[in-house]
Amino acid sequence: MNPVLKIENLTKNFGRLCAVNNMNLQVGAGQVFGMLGPNGSGKTTTLGMLMNVVNPTSGSFKWFGEEATHHTRKKIGAVLEHPIFYPYLTGQKNLELTAMIKGANEAQIADVLRLVELSDRKDDKYRTYSLGMKQRLAIASALLNDPQVLILDEPTNGLDPMGIAEIRELIKKIASDGRTIILASHLLDEVQKVCTHFAVLKKGNMVYSGPVEDVSKGAETVEVKADVDLTDALSSFQGSSSVLRENGYFEVTLTDGVKSKDLNRFLFEKGIIASHLVTKKKSLEKQFLEILAESK
Ligand SMILES: Nc1ncnc2c1ncn2[C@@H]1O[C@H](COP(=O)(O)OP(=O)(O)O)[C@@H](O)[C@H]1O
Ligand SMILES: [Mg+2]
Repeated sequence: MNPVLKIENLTKNFGRLCAVNNMNLQVGAGQVFGMLGPNGSGKTTTLGMLMNVVNPTSGSFKWFGEEATHHTRKKIGAVLEHPIFYPYLTGQKNLELTAMIKGANEAQIADVLRLVELSDRKDDKYRTYSLGMKQRLAIASALLNDPQVLILDEPTNGLDPMGIAEIRELIKKIASDGRTIILASHLLDEVQKVCTHFAVLKKGNMVYSGPVEDVSKGAETVEVKADVDLTDALSSFQGSSSVLRENGYFEVTLTDGVKSKDLNRFLFEKGIIASHLVTKKKSLEKQFLEILAESK
């Protein structure tokens, strides 16, 4: 598979601060790729480099297997931070201005307005739009010229629950046309709902990347030991998916939702006192939530 985006050893320092540290990443065609991380973890800086508005300190990236050029840039649409539209012009007029710059035509304007469900509000002034409508117009504008890739930075920030749901549905709709989407978010929930793949950033370091379905996998693992042999007791415990014997300990992988204290109680009720009971591995979801709760 030829990746749509390949990032190699990408680094950005702002003076002594390392905003993005030696990032390596691939995004495949048709993926909805989430960059997940708390505020200050380097998401916007990464997207800025990918859009050639931030100069990398070192490292490189390729779009469609090529160095970024004017030509590759045309295949990418982006909504970064604050889109600029004229408040006293209508949605339609604002898109006409963008279309002129991008060399897109009238028919495309109608298409993107329909896609973001703003056709019936196109002749209203931009300043009368709700935040959600403004965001949808920004996405429409990024989709002019039919880019293969759409980049979104925190697409639901500041929106009410209704607006958030609409944008998430829209992202899924855009992805279902076969477009590749790269989005930055500080919400695990958002990434789980719309993305197929994701990477987790922590203080500029990519600490994880993989398919989204892995988030719910990776159950907790508990190390347990007692003065008596636990083989029989553990084999009758319903809350484990596997039991491994290792260096005198038993390594018990718990099924979803089962906690180490459930295992402890189970053993106790069988008259066994655990002399050692330690959570070795937290579920991925728990680990990510901990990372996201940290600020820089
Ligand atoms: N232009 C800049 N000058 C100095 N520091 C910056 C600049 N842009 C971002 N930073 C710093 O880089 C780090 C990453 O920021 P950013 O990429 O905006 O993170 P995120 O988008 O994940 O919230 C932060 O510590 C931020 O303060
Ligand atoms: Mg940001």
